[in-house]
Amino acid sequence: MFHPWAARAVGVILTALLLGSLLWRQHAPFTYSAAHRIDTQDLPGLHREFWRHFYDDLTASRPKCTKISHNQTLRVVGLVDDPPPRPMKVVLEDEQHRALKTAHRDFIKRLSNRTYGLAYVLGSRGIVITAGGSYLIHALVTVRMLRRTGTNLPVEVFLRDPTEGDVRICDDIFPLLNAKCVPLSQTLGDDIDSIGKYGYKMVAMLVSTFEEFLYLDADCFPLYNPDMLFTTPPFTTHGPLFFDIANIPMPAMDRSQVASEAGTIMYSKRTHTESLLIAAYYNFYGPDFYYKLHSQGALGEGDKETFRWSAVASNSPWYQVKSRVKHLGFTTKDGERRDSMMAQYNPIIDLKAGAEEARPFFAHAHNPKLDPDWMFNEKTGTIFDSDGSMRRIWHENATQAMEYFGNGFDAEAWMWEEMRDMACEYENLFHRTACVIGTRYLEEVFQA
Ligand SMILES: *[C@@H]1O[C@H](CO)[C@@H](O)[C@H](O)[C@H]1NC(C)=O
Ligand SMILES: *[C@@H]1O[C@H](CO)[C@@H](O)[C@H](O)[C@H]1NC(C)=O
Ligand SMILES: *[C@@H]1O[C@H](CO)[C@@H](O)[C@H](O)[C@H]1NC(C)=O
Repeated sequence: MFHPWAARAVGVILTALLLGSLLWRQHAPFTYSAAHRIDTQDLPGLHREFWRHFYDDLTASRPKCTKISHNQTLRVVGLVDDPPPRPMKVVLEDEQHRALKTAHRDFIKRLSNRTYGLAYVLGSRGIVITAGGSYLIHALVTVRMLRRTGTNLPVEVFLRDPTEGDVRICDDIFPLLNAKCVPLSQTLGDDIDSIGKYGYKMVAMLVSTFEEFLYLDADCFPLYNPDMLFTTPPFTTHGPLFFDIANIPMPAMDRSQVASEAGTIMYSKRTHTESLLIAAYYNFYGPDFYYKLHSQGALGEGDKETFRWSAVASNSPWYQVKSRVKHLGFTTKDGERRDSMMAQYNPIIDLKAGAEEARPFFAHAHNPKLDPDWMFNEKTGTIFDSDGSMRRIWHENATQAMEYFGNGFDAEAWMWEEMRDMACEYENLFHRTACVIGTRYLEEVFQA
């Protein structure tokens, strides 16, 4: 049977060798001008100027070869005696290897030739989220959950362009929650068309106004106040590091789940400029080259690995949470398994006491993504069991839930309370029935 963990381990070894050969002797010391600013008025202009140069360097360093293909036999020499079978494989022709290496070297040279400074507000901290189109609702859910944890950190929600903004959310609701919509097109102009979906995330990180930030995918939110993550190791000790909290290879599941990425990352722009710029390169050429090179066909191929490898490539410290992401769900009365959330663990405890002691800290609500209209709806809501009865969806029962989260915390009840409140408060955003069903759900299932 195909075993994703094993495949990933092999993938990582292969990547280390392949990438190692790309990076060999390419590392040069970087110098950066200090472009940070106290005054936020300057930032959009500085970001545009940065982007103009950076885009030139990105496009000039395009690997001049054909795309990496998955559909051939892996022919990397002398790696593992007994590699497990993989669903997809990568072959790198000599010519591709050479072209990738040349382009990579050229990009690194360009980076060191310019004095890049990422502009940000000195000493600022905040949350960066990317959301466009229908994801704006999920970003709103995440912002509400953030506020429910007690954090007041400002939030920047990046959209592709202004047409993706919903005035009810961007103009009326977000300002009251210390959040704002930021169209990427304001910085990128027409270049936005050449940036793929994963690229948005990268560019959002580069042009956010925060010096230190926690990046969240629109469907990821913390269950506890994240403020302390900025002031406690591992963030403070690793450089501060960047870290990737989502330690996931995706298990074999349906396509939608494989395609989704668990995104919870922290960066300091001040210390990790170079790492971020290299990650941008890997993402810009991700779909054709680097996602394939990094993941070697392991499941969940996407931008996730680029952050780690860019830190490696730039000799930057990084920390990855060792606790494995856990899928939460239940089995319906018809015997169907339904996973709906991936729990990501507390990095502070993970570092201090080890993976065994760590408790869930972030929820990645991936299936379906959270939307009161969708969930509090008898036709679409997954809160309904196969016989139509309402039930909790992260665990079988309250005992199991509280044991898992610890200290008597029923995180699922906590989450649904906020969803109900949203459904009932935002009358012009959600159907009235969402409030009615949400209220009934909380009363019947959670006695809340
Ligand atoms: C993948 O490889 C197989 C076997 O060589 C071939 O039959 C198939 O057409 C290929 N598919 C693609 C998409 O190239
Ligand atoms: C490095 O910068 C100098 C001066 O701006 C320029 O003339 C040269 O072409 C640059 N080299 C590369 C590799 O970009
Ligand atoms: C809760 O669910 C678990 C797992 O199905 C089961 O073992 C346990 O007996 C249940 N506890 C209660 C109080 O229903």
